Amino acid sequence: LFAGPVDFLKGVVAMDGLPEADRVEVCFAGRSNVGKSSLINALTGRKGIARASNTPGRTQEINFFTLGEERYLVDLPGYGYANAPLAVVEKWQRLLKQYLQGRQTLRRAFVLIDARHGVKAVDEEIMKLLDSAAVTFQCVLTKADKVKLNDRERVLNQVRGALAKHPAAFPELVLTSSEKGDGIASLRSIIAGLD
Ligand code: GTP
Ligand code: MG
Repeated sequence: LFAGPVDFLKGVVAMDGLPEADRVEVCFAGRSNVGKSSLINALTGRKGIARASNTPGRTQEINFFTLGEERYLVDLPGYGYANAPLAVVEKWQRLLKQYLQGRQTLRRAFVLIDARHGVKAVDEEIMKLLDSAAVTFQCVLTKADKVKLNDRERVLNQVRGALAKHPAAFPELVLTSSEKGDGIASLRSIIAGLD
């Protein structure tokens, strides 16, 4: 699946701009700056197909990428970013919630968690929303290259503990580094296996 063509389809700013729900879709949600866009670049092997940046709040639209003919990969705006104008943040958050709750073909949401920081209160809010929408979600720990081996197990346990409270959570965690490539092949096969 990942050997086929990958293309940017469109950026969406309102629900009526969503492409037709005609194929399996997975999305990448997470706090601003957690590494959503970088992960899409690593998965597709196309550096720069999703715009990544050190500036939190980089992704401001729902960006659709086509993976061959049969999948959409969806890059979402980050949540929990306090430094944008309130009206802008509220607009993104509303769109994000509408999308997560209303997309029929959304097969799995990957909720990205910084492997240094674990699950935060804003992540819990998104997880609750996904529970109520009955969208299966799976946690992907990002920036594994920045975590000391000693701290790893502690964060993994914190995340496992948090997931235990969420009926929509898929229990298996994926530890990744978009920089070094850890976990990228595993995540590709998880996505390829969804139907
Ligand atoms: P928003 O679109 O603002 O919500 O951010 P995002 O979640 O898309 O994050 P993005 O991919 O833009 O990455 C944010 C910063 O983290 C960038 O400076 C990336 O280079 C860095 N980053 C992302 N993934 C990794 C990783 O695996 N390891 C390291 N060391 N840095 C990473
Ligand atoms: Mg982004």
